[in-house]
Amino acid sequence: MAKKNKLMKFDDMAGYANVFQYAFEQLQESGFPLRGRWGSDYFHNDHPIVIELGCGKGEYTVGLAKRYPDKNFIGFDIKGARMWTGATQAIEEGLSNVAFVRTRIELITYFFSPAEVSEIWITFADPQMKKVNKRLTCTMFMQRYLQILKPEGIVHLKSDSNFLFTYTEEMAKANRLPVLASTRNLYSDEAFAPASTIEALRGIQTAYEKQWLARGIDIKYMAFQPQPRSPWVEPDVEIELDTYRSYGRDKNSGLDKHV
Ligand SMILES: C[S@@+](CC[C@H](N)C(=O)[O-])C[C@H]1O[C@@H](n2cnc3c(N)ncnc32)[C@H](O)[C@@H]1O
Repeated sequence: MAKKNKLMKFDDMAGYANVFQYAFEQLQESGFPLRGRWGSDYFHNDHPIVIELGCGKGEYTVGLAKRYPDKNFIGFDIKGARMWTGATQAIEEGLSNVAFVRTRIELITYFFSPAEVSEIWITFADPQMKKVNKRLTCTMFMQRYLQILKPEGIVHLKSDSNFLFTYTEEMAKANRLPVLASTRNLYSDEAFAPASTIEALRGIQTAYEKQWLARGIDIKYMAFQPQPRSPWVEPDVEIELDTYRSYGRDKNSGLDKHV
């Protein structure tokens, strides 16, 4: 694959049939045309839909799509230059069960009708230690995910962050959400999840994961089921802050610098 700069990647993506980029104003005005129609109008099958939030270069979206040809995968991220890698790979490898959407995850309900999604993967999300509502596993996001997930829908969290992992455990506990699998070191624990899931967890490593592994940080994993709750309860616990941050992560906000 020839090395390309950001503008060349954006140019490429404008012509990719597997990438969708919709501005908020456009969504508000006329909605997203594939909402409720991903199966019939894009994938041309009724296979389960699995989404990856904050997919970066799309390693999970593409890696899972290759392992599970009988499921459809859609990666979401705001950063187009990263997404280009996965979108390009999917085209080059002829993967028809892959798509990417460049948008803010906060807008996720514009892209799916109720119960259109079977599973959500959250891979190495920023822990957002200062702002609860920016954490992808906070109760505000749970309520949005519930609007698009099937009743038995699953959220998979793969994370380096002790802070985000502990927060998610406490959030699940406070709201009595069923936890299907959990480990604080997925490379040393055995049989914490179905064998095929463990294989995918160990066999697909993202760009950020490689960074954490090189620094000797344990990789955690948890699968749980969001379920309707009223009221939702934010956990009331002190969680020790992570003492490190990634190379691309802003010192103060924990947000990545470049879009
Ligand atoms: C730490 S990176 C991890 C990327 C990839 N999953 C990996 O493991 O290499 C987090 C990603 O989430 C994306 N992201 C964070 N918050 C987002 C939001 N609210 N909407 C869309 N993308 C978001 C960032 O752009 C970034 O690519």
